[in-house]
Amino acid sequence: MSRELLRATDLVVRFPAGGLSRWIVPVDRVSLTVDEGEAVAIVGESGSGKTTLGRALVRTLRLSQGQILLKNKDVSRLQGRALKQYRAAVQMVFQDPFASLNPSRTVSQQIGVPIRFHRRLTGREAHAEINQLLEQVGLTPAEDMREKYPHQLSGGQRQRVAIARALAANPQMIVADEPVSMLDVSIRAGILQLLSQLKQDLGISFVFITHDLASARYFSGRIGVMYAGQLVELGPAAQVVAEPLHPYTRLLLAASPGSGIKTALPETSQRAPDLSIGRVGCPFAPRCPLVEAKCTASAIPIQWIADRAVACVQVR
Ligand SMILES: Nc1ncnc2c1ncn2[C@@H]1O[C@H](COP(=O)(O)OP(=O)(O)OP(=O)(O)O)[C@@H](O)[C@H]1O
Ligand SMILES: [Mg+2]
Repeated sequence: MSRELLRATDLVVRFPAGGLSRWIVPVDRVSLTVDEGEAVAIVGESGSGKTTLGRALVRTLRLSQGQILLKNKDVSRLQGRALKQYRAAVQMVFQDPFASLNPSRTVSQQIGVPIRFHRRLTGREAHAEINQLLEQVGLTPAEDMREKYPHQLSGGQRQRVAIARALAANPQMIVADEPVSMLDVSIRAGILQLLSQLKQDLGISFVFITHDLASARYFSGRIGVMYAGQLVELGPAAQVVAEPLHPYTRLLLAASPGSGIKTALPETSQRAPDLSIGRVGCPFAPRCPLVEAKCTASAIPIQWIADRAVACVQVR
């Protein structure tokens, strides 16, 4: 039996917004668990709240509501030193390695910060640890890579540095936010392989945020599907891809290249999803070809059917 590492319950993140609706809710009562060594993918279209959920999980954003447990310990309201410890244990790797690295620091300085700060290593010990991390992420020879600046590296190498920096804190979990989507297609597979290797060798858990169902399926044991801030489907990756339950998941699958999915649904509208506070019912209803009156009458709770979960009145 695998052990639970993280449990998020009914997470809500609200942002103030201009215009008529004063608030938007890009994370709306999302509940999710991640086991030790497990990878859970979060998929959904642009603006569905994936990054905001990731930032809420690593606690770089204030939660408006909800609870996060790490190994059964409530971390949702941590502050100060305890919050810093949590952020060491739960790291985030971002989409754009160029933006996430400091342009005026060498590779060894970037990785040295968490090593000093979280692990309290200095001098020769820190030097050896940096080299070991560089080798672990495939940046060799480490002695040559140490002194390079981000602009002297390729996109893939920069992302490897960002991954090494995340590893430097000795994390139990990494939230990887579209870690390959800004990279050249030819080097994506190498980075995904590296992340898989780390999952396997170090037993690190992952929340893997992606647009791309194929890489979600490759990398993750389970897939969660987000639409307009809500988790509308969650289940074992193979099942979600082979037999999607939510109409939105079916649409997403039909849109993914080479899916061969025959459950394609015609889109009824292209309206951008409504994230405003006070919306009622299923957020996908305005685009759903199966919409009924009850879809917009009240909130649609996510329901479990064996090891799968779906928020849709059509699925029983
Ligand atoms: N700090 C913020 N303040 C106000 N609104 C924000 C903030 N961060 C994100 N948003 C809004 O929250 C919504 C969800 O954004 P988010 O970046 O989480 O989506 P996403 O699913 O990661 O999209 P993408 O696939 O494009 O990365 C968007 O409408 C975005 O404009
Ligand atoms: Mg994003």
